[in-house]
Amino acid sequence: MPDLFDDIEATDKARIIELRRLLREYNQLYYVQNSPVVSDFEFDRLMRELSDLEKLYPDMADSNSPTQRVGSDLSKGFRQVKHKYPMLSLDNTYSSAEVSDFFSRVSSLLGGQPFEICCELKYDGLSISLVYQEGRLVQAVTRGDGVKGDDVTDNVRRISSIPQILKTGSGWPRVFEIRGEILMPWKSFDLLNRERESQEEPLFANPRNAASGTLKLQNPEIVAQRGLDSYLYYLLGEELPEAGHYENMLAARNWGFKVSEHMRKCSTINEVMDFINYWDTERKNLPVATDGIVLKVNSLSQQHILGYKSKSPRWAIAYKFQAEKALTKLESVSYQVGRTGAVTPVANLAPVILSGTTVRRATLHNQDFVENLDLHNGDMVWVEKGGEIIPKITAVDTASRNASTGSRIKFISKCPECGAELVRYAGESANYCPNSSSCPPQIKGRVEHFISRKAMAIDGIGPETVDLFFRKGIVKDFTDLYSLKASDITNFEGIGDKSADNMVSTIANSKSVPFERVLFALGIRFVGEVVAKNLAKAFKSLDALENASFEQLIAVDEIGEKIARSVIEYFADPINKDIVAKVKSIGLQTRLSDDSIGGESDLLSGKTIVISGVFSIHSREEYKEIIEQNGGKNSSSISSKTSFVLVGENMGPAKREKAERMGIRLMSEDDFLELLNNKGTEQ
Ligand code: IVH
Repeated sequence: MPDLFDDIEATDKARIIELRRLLREYNQLYYVQNSPVVSDFEFDRLMRELSDLEKLYPDMADSNSPTQRVGSDLSKGFRQVKHKYPMLSLDNTYSSAEVSDFFSRVSSLLGGQPFEICCELKYDGLSISLVYQEGRLVQAVTRGDGVKGDDVTDNVRRISSIPQILKTGSGWPRVFEIRGEILMPWKSFDLLNRERESQEEPLFANPRNAASGTLKLQNPEIVAQRGLDSYLYYLLGEELPEAGHYENMLAARNWGFKVSEHMRKCSTINEVMDFINYWDTERKNLPVATDGIVLKVNSLSQQHILGYKSKSPRWAIAYKFQAEKALTKLESVSYQVGRTGAVTPVANLAPVILSGTTVRRATLHNQDFVENLDLHNGDMVWVEKGGEIIPKITAVDTASRNASTGSRIKFISKCPECGAELVRYAGESANYCPNSSSCPPQIKGRVEHFISRKAMAIDGIGPETVDLFFRKGIVKDFTDLYSLKASDITNFEGIGDKSADNMVSTIANSKSVPFERVLFALGIRFVGEVVAKNLAKAFKSLDALENASFEQLIAVDEIGEKIARSVIEYFADPINKDIVAKVKSIGLQTRLSDDSIGGESDLLSGKTIVISGVFSIHSREEYKEIIEQNGGKNSSSISSKTSFVLVGENMGPAKREKAERMGIRLMSEDDFLELLNNKGTEQ
C-alpha cells in the first residue's frame, strides 16, 4: 500500500523539520539565555529522535541540522575569536549497554590493539578554551558555535583557580591551548540565588546557568565576586609533553592548573562500569555539579586513528546520569506574594522522596509556565531534582487523567492577600499586585528586606517579630522601627525586658550602617547589592540620587534602562518621598562616608593612560578603576594624547616600540602605585 508509506514518509519528514526547529530554540534558551525550558534528558531524547530519523531519510541531510552542529553560546557584546582547533561536543548516552558498544567499537576500529580508557567526571558548567604563550594566559574564549567563540579573557582573569602565569621551570610548551569547564560551586550558587531571591530577581535554575550568565557579564568586578571555579580536562598543541591524555593532564596540574583528582585509567569494560556506578552516588558529595562520566581513549596516537565525526570525536563518549525524578499528585496550587508584589504560583504536592529529601512543594514560576503545562487539579506530575536545588515539575502524566481529575488550573486574577486586581506589565513574565502601600506581605517583605544581613543587619528581629509588629499596628513601614521604645514592645507575645532593650539598641546602632547598604535596604526594584554600591559611588548622596536624571543614571556602570526607570519611579512616588524624608530625619547614613570618597583623587585628571601587559599587584580591571577613581582616562591604544603607559610584564613588542618611538613614558606598576600613594609628588 504505497499510499500508507507515503503518509509515513511525509509525517517523518515533517517531524524532522519540527525537531530541528525545537532543538534550535532549546539550544538558544540553554546556551544564550541561560534559562532552559526542558531537562537535559528530554533535550538528548529529541536529539536522538532527530538523528535516527535523519539516518532513515538521507535525502533530508543538512549540514545546518542541530545533529551536525554544536549549540552556539555566541552573544552580543564580545569580540569573536576563531578557534585554532574546532571546539567539539561529545556523543552521549544514558545506557550502560551503549557504553559497552562504544568499548567494542573502539576495539574494532583499532584492529584489536590493546587500549586504555581514561574515565573522568563530566563537569556541568560551560566549556572554555585557554591559550598560553610563554607561560602566560593570553586568551580565554567560550565554545561559541565550535568554530568561533566569545572572547571573555577579562572575565576569566578574575577566576582565581585559572593561573595567569604558570609555575616556572615546570616544563610547559611555549604555546599551547588547554580546555576545561568553568563552574559555579554549589556554595556560591546557593549564596547568589539567596541574594537574588531577597531581591526578587529571577533565580538561576542551576549552577551551569549561573556560571554561564556570570561569565557573559560585562563587568569583571562582579565576575570576581561570584566565586567561579574551573576544572581543566583537555590539552592541545603541537609540542605536548606526553603521549597519553591522562599523563598530559598530570603535567598540566604541575604547571598550576586545577585538574580533577578523580581520573582513572581503565583497561576493561568492568573497570569502566565500576567507575560509573561509584560516581553515580558519590558525586552528590562533590562541591560542584557533575552530570555524567566522560570516557576517553587515552593514547593520543590511537585518538588520531579513531578521528572525528562532524561534531564529536570517535575516541570519546559521555555517559550521562539520569536526573532523579518521581511521579506524584498535584494537590493544589497556591500563590505567594513577594515584597515587590510579584505573585508566584506554587504547586502543593503529595509528599514524595527525591534525592533523599521529601518534596512537598515545587515552584511553578509564573502564569505562562502553568498554562504551558496545561495543569489540572489532581494531575499526576513528574517532579525532578537534577542539577537544580528547587524541585521542578517537568511534565504532566496526561495518560493517568481520569474522571476524578479536577478542572484546568486557572491563574488567579486578584491578589490572594489583599484582593487587588493583578496586573502584568508588558515584557514581564510575572503578575503583580499593584497595591504596594497596603498589601500585607509587601509591607512585611519590605521591612524584612530592610533588616536583613546585607542591608541594615538588624539582628534579633526575624519574620515572626516583623509580623507581630505589623499585626499590632506599630510598624507600617521600616522607618517606624526607629520610633519603637522598649516599653512599647515589652510583654508583646513573650518579648521580655532584655530582648526589648536589645532590639531597640540594635535598631539604633544601625544608624551607622554605610550609605550603600541603606540604599540597598530601601528595596528599590532591581537595585541589588552591587547596583546599590555603584549608585552610591556615582552619586555619593541620597539627595543627588533622588535628583538624578535618566541620562545620568544610565551613564553609571551596570545601570541599564530598566534599573534607571525603576529608580526614577521610586523617587517620584509620593509614599516613597515620605519614606526618604523620614530616612534623612532619623539620621541614617545618606552620604558616602569620607573613607570611601577618600580612596579617590583628581591626581590623574587630564591624563590619558594606556595599560599594557600582565600585572602582579592589581588586575588590569582594578587598574582601570583606580585610574578612573583618580580622575584619569583609560585608553586602549597609544597615540599622541597618551600621557604614559602603565606597563606590566609581557608588554606586546609592537606597543613598546610605538611608545618608545613617540617618546611616551613607560611606568612600572610599582612606580604607578608609589605615585598614587605619595599623592602626586611626581607630575
Ligand atoms: S572532553 C572533544 N571532558 O561536556 C571533546 N568534556 O557534552 C572535548 N565536559 O563540551 C571535551 N566535563 O563542555 C570533556 N571531563 C570532561 C568534561 C567535558 C564536562 C563538557 C564539555 C563538552 C561537553 C560535551
